Amino acid sequence: MTADPWYGGEPGTAVRASIPAPVPRPPVRLVDGLAFGGDYNPEQWPREVWDEDVRLMREAGVNLVSLGVFAWGTVETADGVRDWTWLDDAIGLLHRAGIGVGLATPTAAPPSRLLAAHPEIAPVLADGFREPAGGRLAWCPANPVFRRHALRHVEALAERYGRHPAVRLWHIGNEFGGGNARCYCDLSAEAFRDWLRERHGTLDAVNTAWGTAQWGHRFGAWDEVLPPRGRHGAPNPGLFLDYERYSSDALLSQYLAEKAVVERHSDAPVTTNLMVGAGAQVVDYATWAPHTAIAANDHYTLVDDPRREQDLAFAADRMRGLVGDRRPWLLMESSTGSPSWQPRNRAKDPGEIVRHSLGHVARGSDGAMFFQWRASRAGAEQFHSAMLPHSGTRSRVWREVRELGRHLQALKEVQGTRVEPARAAIVADDPAGWALQHGLKPHRSLRYGRELREWHRALWERNVLCDVVPASAAFDAYDLVIVPTMLAVAEPVAARLRAVPERGGTLLVTYLSGVCDEDHQVIPGGFPGAFRDVLGAWTDEFYPLQAGEAVALDDGAAATEWTERVVLETAEAVVSYTSSSLAGGPAVTRNRVGDGTAWYVSAHLPSASVDRIAGLLAETAGLEPTATAPPGVEAVRRVGPEHSYLFLLNHTDTDQAVDAAGRDLLTGTDHPSGAGPLTVPAGGVRVLRETPRP
Ligand code: GLA
Repeated sequence: MTADPWYGGEPGTAVRASIPAPVPRPPVRLVDGLAFGGDYNPEQWPREVWDEDVRLMREAGVNLVSLGVFAWGTVETADGVRDWTWLDDAIGLLHRAGIGVGLATPTAAPPSRLLAAHPEIAPVLADGFREPAGGRLAWCPANPVFRRHALRHVEALAERYGRHPAVRLWHIGNEFGGGNARCYCDLSAEAFRDWLRERHGTLDAVNTAWGTAQWGHRFGAWDEVLPPRGRHGAPNPGLFLDYERYSSDALLSQYLAEKAVVERHSDAPVTTNLMVGAGAQVVDYATWAPHTAIAANDHYTLVDDPRREQDLAFAADRMRGLVGDRRPWLLMESSTGSPSWQPRNRAKDPGEIVRHSLGHVARGSDGAMFFQWRASRAGAEQFHSAMLPHSGTRSRVWREVRELGRHLQALKEVQGTRVEPARAAIVADDPAGWALQHGLKPHRSLRYGRELREWHRALWERNVLCDVVPASAAFDAYDLVIVPTMLAVAEPVAARLRAVPERGGTLLVTYLSGVCDEDHQVIPGGFPGAFRDVLGAWTDEFYPLQAGEAVALDDGAAATEWTERVVLETAEAVVSYTSSSLAGGPAVTRNRVGDGTAWYVSAHLPSASVDRIAGLLAETAGLEPTATAPPGVEAVRRVGPEHSYLFLLNHTDTDQAVDAAGRDLLTGTDHPSGAGPLTVPAGGVRVLRETPRP
């Protein structure tokens, strides 16, 4: 590799060394109030449409747009030749209209010219097939040609607009990993070896960590170590897990290299849009979020998810957990209606645009933004919804977008306030999720997000606020910590979790948590090795169930998918199996640990059982709901220096009465205490400014 000022570090810099410790930054205020807007792609439209765009944006109250996300090829029209005319014009137009710009480094979509000249930029799949150009993120993070061209363009962009007053935010790339999460090329193999040297030191240490004595796979030289290629066979789980970690770091290194270039020319805050949801993510966002000035998320509800509000709440609670300290974050993308990447893309129901957007705000987002401003006539996303749909301003969507704009304006003072402290937490750890879902496991189709969402749902339905936190979080502030299917756990993390009951709190661990250490080696002596002492129980054997099979429980319900043969030590059985060869054995156990309690759930339980246990946990830990509300009404509170704000979201199709008082900022009406219950209209939202704070 030749010396190159755009490589983003010394030539040959290894991936881990290129990731500095994150620098803490004060909270940012992107715009005056809550951010409202979306991706704006004026380059897809004739110039005369832009004037109408800006007029309608002002009409709707738009104050921030993401600009230029895929605009590399339309600016760098030939190698090193850049025509900024249209971008100058667009930024100027927005600025004159008082609309802030989140300016994107457009590296998510390299120009086709670059890919044609350097096809080796495109990522290689595990089976050796090189992904052809045509989609997005068609680049390998270890490829120096890509990095050189990308950083050269980023430098030119940042030089030109770094001090432009319209630029309120830098939006680096787009959804890193959404198309290039793993690359298996030879350059990646080399970078991986460097990464391993940094993580493990010696090849001997790698051999020990991965247990390569099995199948006689001991490595005698570094260049024998390859990415987990191939479609068949079963790669060593330690190798697999380290490759996942390397891949996350390799992409992070690209993000940080672009960020460093931008920061040489601009003081505006820098972020990138994450894709935080319920399952194992494409990268380990716990290591990414601290490198953003304000963490940003893209969240799309799934049309076929009957509980999409809860999925949304989960993602938002996870964002808050990733950011830490309850700092606000930003919903960078969502949809006003149908996406175009799901199997059947249905419009949202009336009211959902407002309810979903304010659901994110309730849980800490300082705004609501969308993909995209105006629906595209052509291209892959021509049937994706937009703030301004194909049917234009006479559409229902446009009416709701304007309504949302008015609401966000009315909620201006909520900007910068923090969601009230949660006393419950669920631990979500991407590496543990990757480990669970891969390789020769006792059950090959368990999805990491399933138990996470199920335990979150049980608390969400009770309106008990819950942070979804990474394994690196401090658990001290929580009275209840739930650890679902966290297969691989590093000992320092396990020790911090064991401390929860030891200091009087409640810990609940589900099956397949703490079974392996961080190298994916089983912790011997009875499952789950990391927690069995604190649980006062251990598992001798796993009994995953066949599809359709069920094992009866003495609480009247039945377990499916997963059961275990559990041995009690000091714990007691709270629920027992009553059928199969496990009959009479414990399914759910509880152990007293000093003043605290440690629970073990050895089975995949139906919702009714989870609800019952969640009730017991809430009682033991003394967890109160945010408000006493009927089923289907979600209550969340943000707290500011003077007031608190109670968000009430009615997900049902009938009006609901809630005991709450304050001034409804959305309607401007007072509902004093003593006036009886407040009506939250069917499908509607109320946001009460509470004085004094409860
Ligand atoms: C992602 C991308 C956008 C767009 C939307 C469509 O969030 O970031 O560019 O493709 O999906 O839902």
